[in-house]
Amino acid sequence: MILHATLTLCLFINLCSGIVLTKWDFFSEIRSIKGAESSNKVTSSKASEENDASAVSYELNLGSYWLEKEWEDAQEQEFEEQHKSQGQLNCAMIPPVLAEKYEFLRYVDVFYGTEGGGHMFPGVTVPFGMCKMGVDVINSGSDAYSGYDPNGEVCGVSMLHESGTGGSPTYGVVSQLPMLAEDLSTVDIKSQIAFNRSKPDFGHIGYYQVNLYTGIKIEFSASARSGLYRYTFPVESGLSPVIMVNLTQHLHSYGRPWWTQNFDGGYIQVSSDMKSYQGKAYFSGGWSDPGTWSVSFYGVFDQPAKTIRAFHGSESYPGLRLNIGKSVNVNMGILFQFRKNAGVIKSHVGVSFSPHNGTIVAKDNLLNDYPSKAFFDFNNSVSNVIKRWDDEVFSKVVVNSEIEDPIILEKFYTSLYGAHFMPTDKSGKEAPWSTEEPYYDDWFTLWDTFRCLHPLINLFNKKRGADMVRSLIEIWRREGFMPDGRSAGRSGRTQGGSNSDIVLADAFIKGINSGIDWEDGLKAMQTNAEVIPPYIRDPIAPDSTNKFGRGALQDWLNYGYITRAFSRSVTRTMEYSYNDFALHVVAKGLGHDALAQRYLKRSSNWQKIWNFEALSDKYNYRGFVQPKDNKGNFYTEHYDPLSCFGCYWQDDEYEGKPIEYGWAVPHDILTLKAFIGSDEIFAQRLDDMFGLYGDGIADIGNEPSFLTPYLFNFINRQFRTSETIDYLIENKFLTGVKGLPGNSDAGAMQAWLWFGLTGFYPIAGTDIYLITSPKISYLELRFESGKITIQAYNLYKRTNPSNPFSRNVYIRELVVNGKQLPRNWLTHQELFEGFNRLEFFMTDVPTPWDAYGELPPSRGHIN
Ligand SMILES: *[C@@H]1O[C@H](CO)[C@@H](O)[C@H](O)[C@H]1NC(C)=O
Ligand SMILES: *[C@@H]1O[C@H](CO)[C@@H](O)[C@H](O)[C@H]1NC(C)=O
Ligand SMILES: *[C@@H]1O[C@H](CO)[C@@H](O)[C@H](O)[C@H]1NC(C)=O
Ligand SMILES: *[C@@H]1O[C@H](CO)[C@@H](O)[C@H](O)[C@H]1NC(C)=O
Repeated sequence: MILHATLTLCLFINLCSGIVLTKWDFFSEIRSIKGAESSNKVTSSKASEENDASAVSYELNLGSYWLEKEWEDAQEQEFEEQHKSQGQLNCAMIPPVLAEKYEFLRYVDVFYGTEGGGHMFPGVTVPFGMCKMGVDVINSGSDAYSGYDPNGEVCGVSMLHESGTGGSPTYGVVSQLPMLAEDLSTVDIKSQIAFNRSKPDFGHIGYYQVNLYTGIKIEFSASARSGLYRYTFPVESGLSPVIMVNLTQHLHSYGRPWWTQNFDGGYIQVSSDMKSYQGKAYFSGGWSDPGTWSVSFYGVFDQPAKTIRAFHGSESYPGLRLNIGKSVNVNMGILFQFRKNAGVIKSHVGVSFSPHNGTIVAKDNLLNDYPSKAFFDFNNSVSNVIKRWDDEVFSKVVVNSEIEDPIILEKFYTSLYGAHFMPTDKSGKEAPWSTEEPYYDDWFTLWDTFRCLHPLINLFNKKRGADMVRSLIEIWRREGFMPDGRSAGRSGRTQGGSNSDIVLADAFIKGINSGIDWEDGLKAMQTNAEVIPPYIRDPIAPDSTNKFGRGALQDWLNYGYITRAFSRSVTRTMEYSYNDFALHVVAKGLGHDALAQRYLKRSSNWQKIWNFEALSDKYNYRGFVQPKDNKGNFYTEHYDPLSCFGCYWQDDEYEGKPIEYGWAVPHDILTLKAFIGSDEIFAQRLDDMFGLYGDGIADIGNEPSFLTPYLFNFINRQFRTSETIDYLIENKFLTGVKGLPGNSDAGAMQAWLWFGLTGFYPIAGTDIYLITSPKISYLELRFESGKITIQAYNLYKRTNPSNPFSRNVYIRELVVNGKQLPRNWLTHQELFEGFNRLEFFMTDVPTPWDAYGELPPSRGHIN
């Protein structure tokens, strides 16, 4: 399967970058070898049987994250064998004018990470756009979290999606589906209408194409809050074009039916001139919170329908222009029939979450996105999307594509693209309340994104960074707590800590201030830290609140750690410590010294669950984090530093083993080093975490271990960081549809990859960036705060002429603004204020260039 992705990639390089054919062969060879080596998915028929059973008996076993994950993977892999088809970036489709003007179009693979559990959304969106217009399928054999799956039958193209999320599929609403019919009475609406494709989907930024086996071609493009469909119907069929608007349509969860979305009724009304329709639909259920939300819409065709037919339940009604339904999941919508031989039909749809006058706002949104001169202008829509990506994202990075490795450039541009999807900008009338503050939604979730996605956004777009913080604070003002997970205006599903704290601290420490009331910000953080959230029962972990705030906070306040009386006690203890450090940062910056001290002290609470005596069977070192009871005794019965057992909501650790969570104290690695003992053991333990020299315990496809490979910097063995990051980027982050090592998690994975390619990595909530080897020889970053250039001399070995991009992995020397810098970290101020020039001198031998440099600071260390 990876081999297939590889070939797509090579074709891509060949088509798009004009690389000569000899290299084509070379890349295909090395990539397929690497792909085969790193194909780390395991499926046995036994596992899939077991998991089938677990899915069926879900009510008895709301159980293990990993079981379900494997079940999904197994299903996906099985289908993969059956259907080789997959979406692809087809460069030939990029209009030459655009390809010429916007080089990034040739490198951004919109299908990156859409398979193999990545769940990326491949459709059309602008940066942080509310609308993510894309294809929805049924019967693909696994949950289509972003609507898309290369398998299955197309049941619509809808306006709203999430990208790269887990949990359960969200949105997939406000859709259209084209078909052909003799007349509307012959369309069977009793069961779900869906069509197979005649070839794989393809697209590029701003553009997407689906071909149905009926001969109908669907193309679409979108803007922030509306979109544009262009249908091409075969004229020779003798049948009439029909477009179905299925009001009920939404994504379903087959793997976790207890979290599936439901349609709760709504209405759709067709205008008397038969050219437009509007309405509102209510939905409930889903992963974040079961509460009801609504979306309004306004759709218009470029020609009037000849006839319409409303369907409701199993009945249909010719000519009925108003269709209202109140019962849950009632099948309802409108079929529009157009004149025979119409050929091309276009349609615009605007959407709105506005609780009041939603259809009016939806129409306003459409007219705002597509002013009269751009109305129904497909090409204009496509170039508009591309231009927005250029203005907001790609114009801020400059590389010379002629001298760099095209595979690295593909990873670089594609990861940057994937890091600008979420949260979504719903400022203005899309907010759930009337407010002057910005409003962002679809935090899915902060647990995933706080570590490096938000630090990336804070670099690329300070205004958005500030607006996101303001939005979090405003949610606190309105609802009492900032969210950790949230979609459709409903907060829910806090997996570990209250990580909004770290997002705020990261912005604060990086001088992102515009419009932010920081005193309110600190109060919002203090609400997390001091106020036990109201008990809201969550059947999957009923011991404490998961909606927002810090569940089990009473333990934190009473004992200074979360006892085993509560679920996820280790995860919560580790994360609440880091969260309290974030409060320390902001309180200190605002001059609240007593508060700053209080939270600094609390940020060391993780030390209470460090058991110096804890052992694993496998390794000869001791000392790990371990759950404790309220008497202070370590829990030993069902404990293993190398296992998180179910790893899910009811377990001691959430999606990470104790051995992984032990590293999760970025604010005080100094103490962790002292606990671990010597630098030698520290290094040994880190090596054991990854597949390069060890057993690969840490899953880099999961966020708790994001910072871990960089921790070699804390013992001044930066060369090991460089090696490990290089290993991970080469082996775990491939290109193509299965390129992501796991769920994108709203772009968190892509942000990690982008920093790794660039040469520095943020410690969220601090001003520190840890250095690693850049993978591009000349890079310019044009940020608001100033321009920085990153040069890597001697990056390419150039010893083997047939392999021009084999890299020197190690740093020999780092020179900043003309001065040699013998340390492996930089502050935000040093990197980003004013003009900065980083020069890396690369070598192929591990070099302790930082051996005598000052160690990276542990900003939360208490002397
Ligand atoms: C739209 O763009 C395509 C591809 O570049 C081009 O072939 C076509 O002529 C354009 N159509 C219009 C109406 O400009
Ligand atoms: C409309 O969508 C719902 C929910 O996905 C589905 O159950 C129903 O069968 C669909 N109706 C038609 C006519 O396709
Ligand atoms: C789609 O293709 C599959 C596999 O060939 C087939 O089983 C299914 O019936 C087709 N669906 C439709 C709606 O034609
Ligand atoms: C809804 O629209 C009506 C008519 O334009 C207007 O009078 C009313 O104030 C609007 N309501 C809200 C809450 O905006």
